Amino acid sequence: MTLKDFKDKFSDWNTYYNDNEVEKMPWYEKNLDNDLENEIISRNLSKGRFLDLGTGPGTQANQLAKRGFDVTGTDLSENAIEKAKTLSNKVNFLTDDFLNSKLPDNEFDYIFDRGCFHVFDVSQRPKYVKQIKRILKNNGKLFLKCMSIEEKNLPDNEVPHKFSKQQIIDIFSNDFEIQSIKDSVFKGTLDQFPKALFIVMKKS
Ligand SMILES: C[S@@+](CC[C@H](N)C(=O)[O-])C[C@H]1O[C@@H](n2cnc3c(N)ncnc32)[C@H](O)[C@@H]1O
Repeated sequence: MTLKDFKDKFSDWNTYYNDNEVEKMPWYEKNLDNDLENEIISRNLSKGRFLDLGTGPGTQANQLAKRGFDVTGTDLSENAIEKAKTLSNKVNFLTDDFLNSKLPDNEFDYIFDRGCFHVFDVSQRPKYVKQIKRILKNNGKLFLKCMSIEEKNLPDNEVPHKFSKQQIIDIFSNDFEIQSIKDSVFKGTLDQFPKALFIVMKKS
């Protein structure tokens, strides 16, 4: 399947998770995201509270729990969460709309967002930044993977939104210390992996 086929089929998240096998979704990746894995190894991280935001199939949350983190996985879609629960009983899977999140303040050492931020409307970005800041502990880190402006198979100004490095700096740098931004890809089930940015930032 190409990115365009997927966009044509897509209606809304909960219906999509009800009607489709997670293993065939474009973002499905059984293993831990390579970029996050590298950060965990290079920073020698092995414990702490991790939120997998927009967990979808729950594979990333499952992999983090296997590495010893105390993991919560949240998603807007109840159907996604029901399916994710079958994957691991070590992860606390919850239905939660991140923009109106009921997660407590200063709760997580780390947040991983692989493909959720880029689905939000431009007008929702300040709310997203506010929620990340509220939920992360002081000095907590956000690991963010989003679509890159370099991905030419997607139209501009549509979901998923595409970002340049400068846009990321403009959106986050008032509230976060941006530690790295690198070019990457979204490994998944598509024939060609879409181009992505992988960003590490610290709550400042
Ligand atoms: C591209 S998928 C990525 C799924 C997962 N992170 C992964 O990498 O396999 C984006 C996910 O964000 C979820 N999502 C969309 N809007 C959301 C919201 N307001 N709050 C929480 N999750 C949301 C969708 O249901 C979907 O599972």
